Amino acid sequence: MTKKQTKPAGLPFSPLDPFAPQNKAMLENLQGNILQGHGRNFSANIFIQFSITGKQLKDLISKISVQYVTSAFQQAEESKYFKRFGIPGSLFGNFFLAATAYNKMGVGKDLMSAMFKDQDNVPPGAEKIFPQSDSFLKGMTALGADLGDIPADLSAVDPAAIASLPALQKWKLFEKKVITEEPELEPLEKAYLKLDGLQIDAMLLLADDSEPYLLRETRSFVTEFEKLGIQVVAIELGKALRNNEGEGIEHFGYVDGRSQPLYLTTDFEMGNPRKERINEKAFRKESGDIDLWDPKAPLEILLKEDLASNVPGSFGSYFVFRKLEQDVLRFSMAEQNLADKLKLTGKDRERAGAMAVGRFRDGTPLVLSSTDGFLPGKDNNFRYDGRDASGNPNPRSVDDSLGLKCPFQAHIRKTNPRQNVGEGEDGDQSRRITRRGIPYGERIKNPNAFQALDDLPTGGVGLLFACFQSSIVKQFSFMQKTWANNTGFKVSSAPGQDGSSPETGIDTLIGQSSQLSGAGGNPDHNWRKEYGGHHGHTSLPDVGNLDLSHSHPTRFNFSNFVKFRGGEFFFAPSIPFLTQSA
Ligand code: HEM
Repeated sequence: MTKKQTKPAGLPFSPLDPFAPQNKAMLENLQGNILQGHGRNFSANIFIQFSITGKQLKDLISKISVQYVTSAFQQAEESKYFKRFGIPGSLFGNFFLAATAYNKMGVGKDLMSAMFKDQDNVPPGAEKIFPQSDSFLKGMTALGADLGDIPADLSAVDPAAIASLPALQKWKLFEKKVITEEPELEPLEKAYLKLDGLQIDAMLLLADDSEPYLLRETRSFVTEFEKLGIQVVAIELGKALRNNEGEGIEHFGYVDGRSQPLYLTTDFEMGNPRKERINEKAFRKESGDIDLWDPKAPLEILLKEDLASNVPGSFGSYFVFRKLEQDVLRFSMAEQNLADKLKLTGKDRERAGAMAVGRFRDGTPLVLSSTDGFLPGKDNNFRYDGRDASGNPNPRSVDDSLGLKCPFQAHIRKTNPRQNVGEGEDGDQSRRITRRGIPYGERIKNPNAFQALDDLPTGGVGLLFACFQSSIVKQFSFMQKTWANNTGFKVSSAPGQDGSSPETGIDTLIGQSSQLSGAGGNPDHNWRKEYGGHHGHTSLPDVGNLDLSHSHPTRFNFSNFVKFRGGEFFFAPSIPFLTQSA
């Protein structure tokens, strides 16, 4: 086979047909789970430190990769067979490397900097917000203050406040010798303290639909490779939660994984030459129209050329991993308290939680409906600015630019304002991340079942949040720092007209300020009893002219139910790089 003469000028166009012959080589070189989720119900996330370096390490990485890594092509083939004949896919594997692994392998500084300096991706004018564009090279803890994970000023920290910090943060503080005495630790936190003195160089993700099989495979990986130069730092086990309809949910009980950027023709059932009708019923239920919000996304927001591979046209992707613990009891109590405060009754009470998330538990988008049970279920064809996917005004598109239906602080509105935010080409659509998280932890009862307060955990459960993107700076970090943690961030075409304080507050689910404060430290949010700002009316065609003075928002703090427990930035290298000899 002749080598391609030049590197591809760009990536192929999406949506990509995974079965077209011209895409085969690229998909064989790309790890699975990036273009499309692996879909398995159980995962083992094995964090490892390498105790060898150089060529020896390169060979070890190659051995692990040959044995475990699933390519995007294999994943597509397996899902086709599953849909046709019901045969499950084999054990799924991803192998991700942190910057320290590249250093240990002896990858040169120049190549590292050419590959991982994210300079090109920092939008003009935003250099000050992200002075270090090399997030991946420095690792997640270096960005701690930026992301709100650790206090901005460690020296000002009072020891009593330190005792209430999550484990990884304490660990970082120990490392910096800010405190010398180890406070009493909960069992959960001890696991992360084991990180003391250890370093996460890589993560092997194994996934399967059979939990016992997955655990045995994890055991054999550890047994075989501990002899060859790895040390296990931590293992996080993910376990999908499903509602009665079989849809994936998270621990607060809401349908998750609905709105994603999509890259494959098989996600749309278009242009597939073999004309398989893949799970047609599910498809109709899932997809719906895409004229107002189009989930098709360019590969540029997902893939990054792997310059360390000696095969041209090899791609990888940055992988962000964060263990986020959920306090389900306090979240549920806050939902009830907010409903009480707004005097919501009957079916309307469900709207309290929906205002925090932006969707009801069943996935109904709040901006489209004041109650759940909306059809088509889990619709995703909406924006908040009355426009369509091309940016033109459209009467079918809801205009909620005042945040009277879906509050600005709602998680899905903060993390996807569905509108360009005035930075030209770097508008919000290029900030989209491709989420691949999975819940963790055991529950007494499935979150979908009726819950007594005693059934609700205050910790020990949560989300192993994970996402792929082509730039950490421009996508994940920007979303967390500049949108979720930013009390002022909202997108509104009519600023200041909602009669409320200009402060929006932090994202109700994931916002965190870098101040060492409890819920009281975050500003309160605005909430409204009346959907759409006007009692009895669900649509307000000309909301700008309305006198809203009769409808003052209620102030209530809805935050701090999700705690960061540790994580890292990784790169998902191309398969040729992982398997090439030193
Ligand atoms: C959407 C929950 C963490 C970014 C959602 C949805 C839920 C949810 C219920 C709506 C369903 C959907 O559209 O898929 C949670 C919980 C979290 C968490 C419980 C933590 C425990 C994060 C983090 C980020 C994030 C850390 C990024 C920094 C997003 C995005 C969407 C989303 C981009 C889609 C919004 C849209 O396109 O409309 N999340 N999430 N989430 N979440 Fe999260």
